[in-house]
Amino acid sequence: MQSITTIADLRRRVSLWRQAGERIALVPTMGNLHAGHLQLVETARRQANHVVVSIFVNPMQFSDASGGDFEHYPRTFEVDQKKLMESGVDLLFFPAQEEMYPAGFKNVTRVMVPGISDILCGVFRPSHFVGVATVVAKFFNMVQPDVAVFGEKDYQQLLVIRRFTEELCFPVEIIGVPTVREADGLAMSSRNQYLSAEERQRAAALYRTLQTAKERLISGEGDIAAIESDAEKTLREAGFCPEYFTVCRADDLQPATTADTALVILTATWLGETRLIDNIQLRRHGAAPA
Ligand code: PAF
Repeated sequence: MQSITTIADLRRRVSLWRQAGERIALVPTMGNLHAGHLQLVETARRQANHVVVSIFVNPMQFSDASGGDFEHYPRTFEVDQKKLMESGVDLLFFPAQEEMYPAGFKNVTRVMVPGISDILCGVFRPSHFVGVATVVAKFFNMVQPDVAVFGEKDYQQLLVIRRFTEELCFPVEIIGVPTVREADGLAMSSRNQYLSAEERQRAAALYRTLQTAKERLISGEGDIAAIESDAEKTLREAGFCPEYFTVCRADDLQPATTADTALVILTATWLGETRLIDNIQLRRHGAAPA
């Protein structure tokens, strides 16, 4: 595996593969890699001749890029590099902030995906998806991959990326990979390490609550608002501070009605100082009206 830091080197390397008619897959990450990321790499390997992984903690998608969450985001480059080498990655792109945003990122050209970016997590993290869409679009232009692979744990992010890829005509196939979970159901996330031992135990209730809501929907219950508010109550009683717990249409994240069959239940919640997100998808065959 080659590790490179400049866009010029990256372009040189991928253009050789492209000239040889070989397929390239991209897995963008912010590092601190866990089994969920390695599952993305594994999927990418099945899709292409060459896998490029980027590690870049993107300041533009943090609300406070000069401190707080951005500063404290775990950076574990050496360990990540070793994991990627062992996973058969061809190229690791690890740019510095100046390489990605030579003129800073405050007044830089940006990619906005209205509507889908402004709901759910977008309400609580207003500029987050602009930062995500902008950096992913930059990676698409730098790597020019045939496919790009993202986790379904960040379900809203996946839809934002699918939308701009289609609407800006990037010739990139977007592949979503199911969430990898710990034994007790907690979705793998770099942020899980912020949880205290006691919070980590309690965190399993998040997935259980999603599952309970899913079972109620599948059993045909029609009162979606009741399912949502019961789940929020369960989470509060378990010590969480939910931002939202909501049942949406899987394709556009609009509030689900009893007529919709492809659904996703999404939640974002605080547990102590840690913000956790998770979701669960389901199909159901019509429901009794509320
Ligand atoms: O999901 C992530 O890790 C990030 O949002 C991404 C897609 C790498 C963009 O910085």
